[in-house]
Amino acid sequence: MLSVKDLDVQGKKIFLRVDFNVPLDKQRNIRDDTRIKAALPTLNHLLEHGAKVVMASHLGRPKGEFKPEFSTRPVADRLARLIPHEVLHAPDVVGDEVETMKAQLNEEQVLLLENLRFYPGEKGNDPEFAQQLAQGIDFYVNDAFGACHRAHASIVGIPAHVQSSAAGFLVGKEVEYLRKAVLSPQKPYVAILGGAKVSDKIPVVESLMYKADNILIGGAMAYTFFYAQGFDVGRSLVEEDKKELSLNLLDKAKSLGVNFSLPKDHIAAEAIDPDVEGRIIQEFPIPPSLMALDIGPQTIEKYRNVITKAKTIFWNGPMGVFEIDKFAKGTEEVAKAVADSDAVSIIGGGDSVAAVLKIGVSDKISHISTGGGASLEYIANETLPGLEALTEK
Ligand code: 3PG
Repeated sequence: MLSVKDLDVQGKKIFLRVDFNVPLDKQRNIRDDTRIKAALPTLNHLLEHGAKVVMASHLGRPKGEFKPEFSTRPVADRLARLIPHEVLHAPDVVGDEVETMKAQLNEEQVLLLENLRFYPGEKGNDPEFAQQLAQGIDFYVNDAFGACHRAHASIVGIPAHVQSSAAGFLVGKEVEYLRKAVLSPQKPYVAILGGAKVSDKIPVVESLMYKADNILIGGAMAYTFFYAQGFDVGRSLVEEDKKELSLNLLDKAKSLGVNFSLPKDHIAAEAIDPDVEGRIIQEFPIPPSLMALDIGPQTIEKYRNVITKAKTIFWNGPMGVFEIDKFAKGTEEVAKAVADSDAVSIIGGGDSVAAVLKIGVSDKISHISTGGGASLEYIANETLPGLEALTEK
């Protein structure tokens, strides 16, 4: 896989795929511009070396239609405040007007296209759409790590239509850290997985069984494992159709000798509501009116002990309903323990990243991934469609 450093970009037109899928509030103000800032080293490198840069990203899930609330315009405005270049915003993704803007682009400017997902050809990886995106382009650079698990036209389709393709610095850095966890993790290797659904985590759990020494489970997904074993979990969220699968995963963990930990105690409440009180539940059954919304104090203690001894940590997903302060303690305490450890620590996924930012320990984490889904899929499959596309040509 080439790096952007390997390309002679002087005077060349570059299609730079970025992941500017940033959170917006109701007024379409950007709530967090981490992903925009994360692409700047690649963008600046290209501009400093005399390239003409056409940038493109998806934003949200507009489902193949033009929807103004998903416009990349606010992102162009924010980018303009971060770089000393003029940022032009194209009103479309492909077509005559965009082609003219691409053709007239100079080295002092950057062009950001409209939302790639305004066209169904993006998600469908339509070769014609990919060709249109590559129109007038010399080189393709992918720095959209967070979207590398999507086999979409702008991720896997464009390389076939340009002279050369390369990874940007962000993609390079993400892969460097994740490779360490996949190929040569220092032991003990502790994986912490949380979030609502077991179904989102099946491939990663299966793959971690062969690599990790400890798998610590939190979040609602834990209750599907309890439910599968016949425990009464009250009104906790469960995926009833994942019973067999959960039992298989538990069996597999046992036969492989991996320490697969589920919460020992729980904070449960009547509703996901900041105004209801949480109760510590130490044993099953969880009362029928209650649902588990965070891990309890004994679990925090146990997980902290395991995390403290780790040499490699991969963490994805919150331990509870982190958005509500009352149910955020488990996630925050895990974040503190990860930050205090000497391990190479890799965190991906919105809420786990938000937890380390909230408690101000992000500088103690070895690598905070900009791609929750992408980092999970890399850990599971040891590669991603977007990386494969860069190596094929
Ligand atoms: C993300 O936010 O994880 C990436 O931008 C991918 O977005 P998606 O899940 O909508 O494909």
